[in-house]
Amino acid sequence: MHNTEIPSVRLHTGVTMPGIGLGTWQMTDFEVESLIPLAVELGYRLIDTAAFYGNEYGVGRGVRAADTPRNELFITSKVNGIDQGYERTLRGFDASLSRLGLDYLDLYLIHWPMPMRGLYVDTWRAFARLQAEGRIRAIGVSNFASEHLDRLRTETGIVPAVNQIQLSPPIPQELWRAYAAEHDIVIQSWSPLGQGGGLLKKAAINRVAARHHKSAAQVVLRWHLDQGVVPIPKSSNKDRLTANLDVFDFQLAPDDFTDIATLAGTAVAMDPHTVEQD
Ligand code: A2P
Repeated sequence: MHNTEIPSVRLHTGVTMPGIGLGTWQMTDFEVESLIPLAVELGYRLIDTAAFYGNEYGVGRGVRAADTPRNELFITSKVNGIDQGYERTLRGFDASLSRLGLDYLDLYLIHWPMPMRGLYVDTWRAFARLQAEGRIRAIGVSNFASEHLDRLRTETGIVPAVNQIQLSPPIPQELWRAYAAEHDIVIQSWSPLGQGGGLLKKAAINRVAARHHKSAAQVVLRWHLDQGVVPIPKSSNKDRLTANLDVFDFQLAPDDFTDIATLAGTAVAMDPHTVEQD
């Protein structure tokens, strides 16, 4: 058993959130149901799912099977594209909670802005109501560009606590991180390891890893943490789940950041202006 004490970050609403979490995209109900109790045993406290992932039922079963009280876990889900709009969001939220078998969420996110549908401000108003009713502890967004965040701020006066974006050394998202810093929004990074594979084989990452006697994945996760970003790596393997939490005993140096910065721009991010999701 791994006894890592995970540092927390504080959201602008005062809610504290674990500083690293477990992503579950592309995992089935069956997989997450057994993986979550293991991950919680290893020290994970933040579990990230979405209506779109189709695994909320398994996430709920995994959370209930875990040997940790619900109030020590931090469960995130996201409203599906098809459920955007005020009324539909309220119904979509109820459906997510019922699949999860939970009576509240710690964090609920708008999954993609889908600006061509023009519904994300109405969706956000429904989020604010659900938060006021005590059914969500913190509300945020995912894949929002600065202009989408501007609309939420100016039209509702409510700033998202979190923006969860695709972020990794090849996709450093400097503009959106600067916006988040200015408005006290915490950035979570999805696919923080660049979905495994190529990024972890890059010479620049492995040079830094050798200097710290850490693995490539641990260096990439540290790159997120050292910039105040909350990564949600996924793994279905016990050793890698463990390794991904063993990142709180070192820090990157300026030279490490310089090496890793050479990878910026070597991958293309999904574009929130055009992504549609049903
Ligand atoms: P696996 O589930 O076999 O561990 P991301 O979170 O960026 O999407 O990356 C997830 C991918 O990275 C998965 O394919 C996962 O594979 C792999 N992965 C997760 N942790 C590690 C690690 N510590 N070392 C190598 N690969 C990893």
